[in-house]
Amino acid sequence: MKNLSFPLAALLSFATVPAVAADPTPTAPQVVEAIERVFGASPGERRNHTKGTCAVGEFVGRQEASRYSRSALFSGKPIAVIARFSLSGGNPQASDGAKSARGMALEFKLPAGQVQHFTMLNTPVFGAAHPQTFFDLMLAMRPDPATGKPDPEKLQAFKASHPDNLAQAEYLAHNNPPASYANSTYWGIHTFKFVGKKNKVTLVRWRFVPRDGEKRLSDEELQRAGPSFLEQTLIRRTQQGPARWDMLLSLGKAGDPEDNPTLLWPAERQEINAGTLSITAATPQKGAACEAINFDPLVMGDGIAPTNDPVLQFRSPAYAVSFAKRRSGQ
Ligand code: HEM
Repeated sequence: MKNLSFPLAALLSFATVPAVAADPTPTAPQVVEAIERVFGASPGERRNHTKGTCAVGEFVGRQEASRYSRSALFSGKPIAVIARFSLSGGNPQASDGAKSARGMALEFKLPAGQVQHFTMLNTPVFGAAHPQTFFDLMLAMRPDPATGKPDPEKLQAFKASHPDNLAQAEYLAHNNPPASYANSTYWGIHTFKFVGKKNKVTLVRWRFVPRDGEKRLSDEELQRAGPSFLEQTLIRRTQQGPARWDMLLSLGKAGDPEDNPTLLWPAERQEINAGTLSITAATPQKGAACEAINFDPLVMGDGIAPTNDPVLQFRSPAYAVSFAKRRSGQ
């Protein structure tokens, strides 16, 4: 029997190997390292959305939204906001004309020390249904040592094998970047749960629509645009008075995609105006309030809860890795 017990144990432990290998999800440190190998790492800076601008303002929620969420956001009282506008990617010198996503991150200071984060992009969908696709994109974008540029064949192979990347890539290819951070809609993209007073859950998605109107640069304007106009444009805009966005909330119906940020909901979903964001001042990010914030989208106050969207869930550990590195000077 003694002789038999070892092979049996070995067999049992071997039997667990395929289960581990079948789950290829990369870890957060692996994904952040993959981002660094594409863009490099600027010490003390965010590993993604590195170039950005800090801002402050307030949000006033509407009573109608409080029918769906008991969050203090919708009390009708002004809530102080710290914001950050950014360009996606880890290049601190990225051109403001780049056909990449722009970000708007908001930290709402709720009463009793609660905090709520919304960390959004100016695309209606994301380019990955699963962290693996994001990771594979970083591998495909890794510069070839011979040319210093990504290998076009690897990028082509990535596109062909990851159809979940297509919708966002097409959106970015066909919609030029905005003329100003204040002239763009920002989508929450993921589905979230609004939790009401009696614990009733409503699936929702939201977007922030600019009162200044949507304005994209024409191809000609893009040719003429300098590399860094977004920050000064926002600073000047807020000096003239608050830049405002309405928070439009879509109410989901049974069967709407809940865990996939690459799929839109049908356009006819009921929508309510949940409140207004006013950005009153903007400044360069160095030393300003937004610099030290980790805009982890899973930081939530009572009344709003996450879904099981694997991308939403993965963002939290990935942001923590980037945050820990940058705050320790790496
Ligand atoms: C697998 C998916 C994703 C990964 C691995 C990822 C990774 C990251 C990382 C590492 C940062 C820097 C965090 C920091 O140092 O504070 C970041 C920032 C950011 N991400 Fe993501 N992200 C993902 C998906 C998304 C999605 C779906 C959105 C929008 C819905 C988004 C919007 C943003 C924005 C706006 C910022 C800048 C936040 C700020 O201003 O501090 N990301 N992301």
